[in-house]
Amino acid sequence: MADQLIAALGGYGEVGATAVRRLAESGHVRIRVGGRNPERGRTQLSDLHDIDTSYVDIDDRESLNRFCAGADLVLNCAGPSYRILDTVARAALRAGAHYVDVAGDVPARRALGSTFGDRAAVFSAGLMPGLTGLLPRLIAGPGEDRLEINVGGAVRMTPASAADILLAQGPDFGESLAQWRGGTVVSRALSPRRGIRLPGFPEPVDAMPFLPTESVRLAAELRVEELRFYTAYASEAIPTALAMAWADDPEHRDEYAGMLIQAAVSDLRERDPYYVLTASTGSSSATLRTGDPYQLSGVVAALTADAVLQKKIGPGVHFADGVLDPAGTIEALRHDPLVHSLTIHTATSRRSSS
Ligand SMILES: NC(=O)c1ccc[n+]([C@@H]2O[C@H](COP(=O)([O-])OP(=O)(O)OC[C@H]3O[C@@H](n4cnc5c(N)ncnc54)[C@H](OP(=O)(O)O)[C@@H]3O)[C@@H](O)[C@H]2O)c1
Repeated sequence: MADQLIAALGGYGEVGATAVRRLAESGHVRIRVGGRNPERGRTQLSDLHDIDTSYVDIDDRESLNRFCAGADLVLNCAGPSYRILDTVARAALRAGAHYVDVAGDVPARRALGSTFGDRAAVFSAGLMPGLTGLLPRLIAGPGEDRLEINVGGAVRMTPASAADILLAQGPDFGESLAQWRGGTVVSRALSPRRGIRLPGFPEPVDAMPFLPTESVRLAAELRVEELRFYTAYASEAIPTALAMAWADDPEHRDEYAGMLIQAAVSDLRERDPYYVLTASTGSSSATLRTGDPYQLSGVVAALTADAVLQKKIGPGVHFADGVLDPAGTIEALRHDPLVHSLTIHTATSRRSSS
């Protein structure tokens, strides 16, 4: 894999900068970092070697083609992802490169289609979606009776993420209040759990049921009898801003993006940042804690790019949680400084690190 070239779009954003750092630390790739403000990239990544920084605008096809030319793999960490869809993936395909997207998810995958020549395209290579589909695989086996996933906390929100959260509406993303039961999605099956103490969380949270499409795929693949998924909020600030945004005309989305960012800021006035992902069955559980889900998403994206270049992921169009090796990925995360703690407790073993 020596001398392979990774073209990292959005490589100086919150997610992208960490992905680039982890890939650079591995020492056996060259990295081309791009965005509309290459000077920002140069300043931010000035301590790294073997990094080129260049101008690219996703909306300018020529500059995008130039950016992808010669790359072995294009890593897309730019956002908002649900506006970019398959634009960067198609540029990677034209360049004959593999593709890894920290987000994209079902809308981008559908827009791209199911083939990618003789290369691999991997979507949803972040924390959520991404680790939210991967971590449960460590503890849940085929035919599991019951699986519950909780994710959330109190962290800052970037403009690209706020825009994506507001765009993430409809069946491509998931269904509020729904759960998986007996081989199908059951609508309006669950209620919010307010002020609840969830294992692994440092304070009581409001846990809102939301069944993501990623969990539906997981439940169907593992033939889980019952799957519940809750997004945890430290206060009512973000759910309130989201409810207002979704009740209003989409043309006001930008104003609500600002409101979401402020809601996240207000959560952090009263507490230190934390973010927790837990998965539990009747007999086993896994808990991962971090202070920064953006940077940790960059780590997952870097691990995915590495797995593709090492040919651990074959040609075709994939979601990360379905093709990454759960045990190997979690073992790599266990040693990452961004992971505050990672505990796995199965019926036969107990492992933890912090
Ligand atoms: N799966 C997950 O768990 C997860 C977690 C966090 C974030 N995400 C997703 O990751 C994406 C990035 O989030 P972030 O927090 O890192 O955002 P960010 O800090 O705002 O970074 C976005 C990056 O994209 C670049 N960019 C934006 N528009 C561009 C364009 N037209 N052409 C070229 N580059 C462009 C920006 O550079 P310039 O503006 O200078 O061009 C910047 O480098 C978002 O889609 C977000 O939803 C996924």
